Amino acid sequence: MSNVYELKHPLIQHKLTYIREKTTGPKEFRELVEEITMLMTYEVTKDFPLNEIEIETPVQKTHSKVIFGRKVALVPILRAGLGMVEGILKMIPAAKVGHIGLYRDPDTLLPVEYYCKLPSDLSEREILILDPMLATGGSAEAAIRFIKEKGAGTIKLVCLLAAPEGIAMIHEKHPEIDIFVAAIDEKLNDHGYIVPGLGDAGDRIFGTQ
Ligand code: PRP
Ligand code: URA
Repeated sequence: MSNVYELKHPLIQHKLTYIREKTTGPKEFRELVEEITMLMTYEVTKDFPLNEIEIETPVQKTHSKVIFGRKVALVPILRAGLGMVEGILKMIPAAKVGHIGLYRDPDTLLPVEYYCKLPSDLSEREILILDPMLATGGSAEAAIRFIKEKGAGTIKLVCLLAAPEGIAMIHEKHPEIDIFVAAIDEKLNDHGYIVPGLGDAGDRIFGTQ
C-alpha cells in the first residue's frame, strides 16, 4: 500500500491559507504555489541516495556527500501542474520535464487526454507527477497509467490539496505510488470540487475564471 505524506510544516500551512483565500489574485497565487512546491521538495527527495566524494576545503582535504545516481523527471498535468514546475526546478535544476494534457469533463468528471510528451529515458528516472489538486483522482490516475505504459521506473505523486476520495482512488489503482500533499481536505462537493479547497486551480493560476 502506498504512503500518504501530509506535509504539515508551519511555512507550508501558512502559505496554504493564502492560496485558499478567495481574494488572492493570480500573481500572488502563482508565487505561493511555487514556494509551497519548493518547500515540499525537501520531503519528496528525502530518500535520495548519497555518495561520499573527496573534496578540498580551503583548510584541508575531506570527504563530503553528494546526491548519487538519481535522475529526475517532472511531469506536470496541464494546466495547473505547470504552476509547480519552477519550485522544484530551483532545487533540482537538472530534472527533465514532460507534459501530460488532461482536462476534466465538467459533466462526467472523467479526464480527457489532449497532449502527452515525455522524456525518452523515462525508465531511468524518478518521476514526480505534479498537480495541485487531487479531487476524484481521475486525472492523476490517468497520468500514472500513461507514464507506466511508457515504462517508467519509480513514480511519486505531488499535490497541494487532496480529497480523501482521490487518495482512495490512487490507493486502489496504483497501490505502490507514494503521495505527497500539503493538506488533506474534508471531501468533494457535488461538482467534484475539493471542500474547503481553493476553487479551480488552473483558473486561479492563469487568471481565467
Ligand atoms: C484540475 C486539476 C486536476 C484535476 C483534478 O484540472 O488541476 O488536474 O482538475 O480533478 P480530478 O482529481 O477529479 O481528476 P482541470 O481539469 O480543471 O484542468 P485545468 O488544469 O486545465 O484547469
Ligand atoms: N480541480 C480543481 O481545480 N479544483 C478542485 O477543487 C477540483 C478539481
